[in-house]
Amino acid sequence: MLESQLMPYIIRPMKYEDIPQVAQIDREAFPGEWVFRSQAAYKQDLDNPSIRYMVACKEKHVPEPKGQALEKPPWFKRLFSYERRLNIQEYIVGFSGFWMMTGEAHIIAIGVRNDYRQLGVGEGLLILTIELAQISNANIVTLEVRASNKIAQELYKKYRFQVVGRRLRYYSSDGEDAIIMSTDNITSVPFQASFQQLKEDYAQRHREILARVC
Ligand SMILES: CC(C)(COP(=O)(O)OP(=O)(O)OC[C@H]1O[C@@H](n2cnc3c(N)ncnc32)[C@H](O)[C@@H]1OP(=O)(O)O)[C@@H](O)C(=O)NCCC(=O)NCCS
Repeated sequence: MLESQLMPYIIRPMKYEDIPQVAQIDREAFPGEWVFRSQAAYKQDLDNPSIRYMVACKEKHVPEPKGQALEKPPWFKRLFSYERRLNIQEYIVGFSGFWMMTGEAHIIAIGVRNDYRQLGVGEGLLILTIELAQISNANIVTLEVRASNKIAQELYKKYRFQVVGRRLRYYSSDGEDAIIMSTDNITSVPFQASFQQLKEDYAQRHREILARVC
């Protein structure tokens, strides 16, 4: 089993200090489009109360640069909890964001690092996005996705998003069309019944992924 499958993940709101790692994932997950979401743009988004970003992260042991380990004797490390403070950091493996318009939560992006895909991280981020949309009084959740991006479309279809339109030549980098996908009313009984079931199934399959909405 891979290390990435054994470690617990936490999904939590994004903070300013997460921006460099999120921008890195953005470039990896959306090659060619990342210039539109610079680090400065992320900072602006975090200051905007209509926009919510979340990150999925885990603690990762970061090896000390060569040479430094010799300079610090064990008593120093114990005294200053050196191992805990400097060698362990949160490693962000995925992020998602949406902005609220009247009654509608519009997903800006969901992206997961290449090495951490198909482990349930993207689904966890989508579940939390739908929950936060509900808390923000959204009736529907919508998004645009590349017409060729069948993997993402599968994820959204699993959560009852349907294709409701198409934007021709939407992506300026290569002129690809965008598919517009939307949920039905997320407060409706049929949507909630299916969402709660999917959440339960997810919790059973992914006990290692914890979500914190606060
Ligand atoms: C789309 C993306 C976020 C999915 O993240 P992920 O963590 O790999 O997905 P998960 O492991 O949580 O999978 C959840 C569901 O997504 C779909 N899915 C994920 N990988 C898939 C694949 N390789 N083939 C088909 N469906 C797939 C399935 O429906 C899956 O549910 P299942 O496990 O019951 O089959 C990820 O592939 C990614 O970052 N892609 C690049 C960026 C992007 O396209 N973002 C979406 C547009 S905004």
